[in-house]
Amino acid sequence: MCAAVYVLSTVTGYVLTSALLLKCPNLLHRKRRGTFLCRHISHRGGAGENLENTMAAFKHAVDVGTDMLELDCHLTKDEQVVVSHDANLRRATGINAFISDMAYNELPPYLCKLDVTFQKECYCAGGDDKRIPLLQDVFDAFPNTPINIDIKTNNDTLIKKVSALVTKYDRENLTVWGNARNQVAKKCYKENPRIPLLFSLPRVLQLVGLFYTGLLPFVPLKEQFLEIPMPSILTKLKDPNGLTRSQRVLIWLTDTRLRSNTLRLSRICFQVYIWVLNDEEDFQRAFDLGATGVMTDFPTRLRDFMDKNGISKPE
Ligand SMILES: *[C@@H]1O[C@H](CO)[C@@H](O)[C@H](O)[C@H]1NC(C)=O
Ligand SMILES: *[C@@H]1O[C@H](CO)[C@@H](O)[C@H](O)[C@H]1NC(C)=O
Repeated sequence: MCAAVYVLSTVTGYVLTSALLLKCPNLLHRKRRGTFLCRHISHRGGAGENLENTMAAFKHAVDVGTDMLELDCHLTKDEQVVVSHDANLRRATGINAFISDMAYNELPPYLCKLDVTFQKECYCAGGDDKRIPLLQDVFDAFPNTPINIDIKTNNDTLIKKVSALVTKYDRENLTVWGNARNQVAKKCYKENPRIPLLFSLPRVLQLVGLFYTGLLPFVPLKEQFLEIPMPSILTKLKDPNGLTRSQRVLIWLTDTRLRSNTLRLSRICFQVYIWVLNDEEDFQRAFDLGATGVMTDFPTRLRDFMDKNGISKPE
């Protein structure tokens, strides 16, 4: 009897404390230092309006007032950090070669038209800019724009070089980096813990576990940015069978109204971005679900939607 009362009061105390801390996470978690807020994020610089990951795409996105550029990095044979989504150049340039096997000045130009991964049967025709840029070119051109960097390969030199560039350009407070693989994310954090970090997929699953057990407020987390896919993009993807189990769990996480509570609470602790959304219905749904930001291939479309609905720039 006595033991039961003890257990019950302990459990009740735990549940109440946990609920309180979820509502007021700043009681335990230190307020995040220097975190920038972004609502409008351009995926690969806006792959639906310009050739993905080109300077022309980034410039256009910044011109329409994007809050953040999302891009991907690889390392060339001569150890230059370049902005490209794929490791192999076949899809984007027609040449079957790996970036890691070529020097920067040997890289071929992009094709005139590229497919848009998150928009079925859409091809984006580019203008004159078909060059694969250096990460440094992007930092030079947009010194004040936050950038979301996906470290595409598990290569220590790549991680070191990106960190060195971020530090050199004084962008530690304007950068978030990471990768879906936890191995890569862990290396990023170890290399430079001052650069804000994205949750890797395994860490998102841990986060969900912590949330549903009420442990979330008690566990310090090194990540500040949560990026999750919207379930509706499943139907728009070309190959939904290609999803991993973790991706399926992520999709489940955002699947019903019920989950919106998770999102609302999570965004107290983190910035929550939903990707990659390309039409008004999905933009609306994401902001309704409590996303702090939306990642799109069509920066102009998202800008128009936000203007029309009075969704302002942060701060
Ligand atoms: C980043 O922001 C924090 C807090 O706002 C500040 O103390 C720090 O000096 C900034 N770092 C850089 C490199 O600007
Ligand atoms: C990292 O990339 C460079 C340049 O492509 C390459 O020479 C090196 O072997 C890679 N390191 C690993 C561990 O893969």
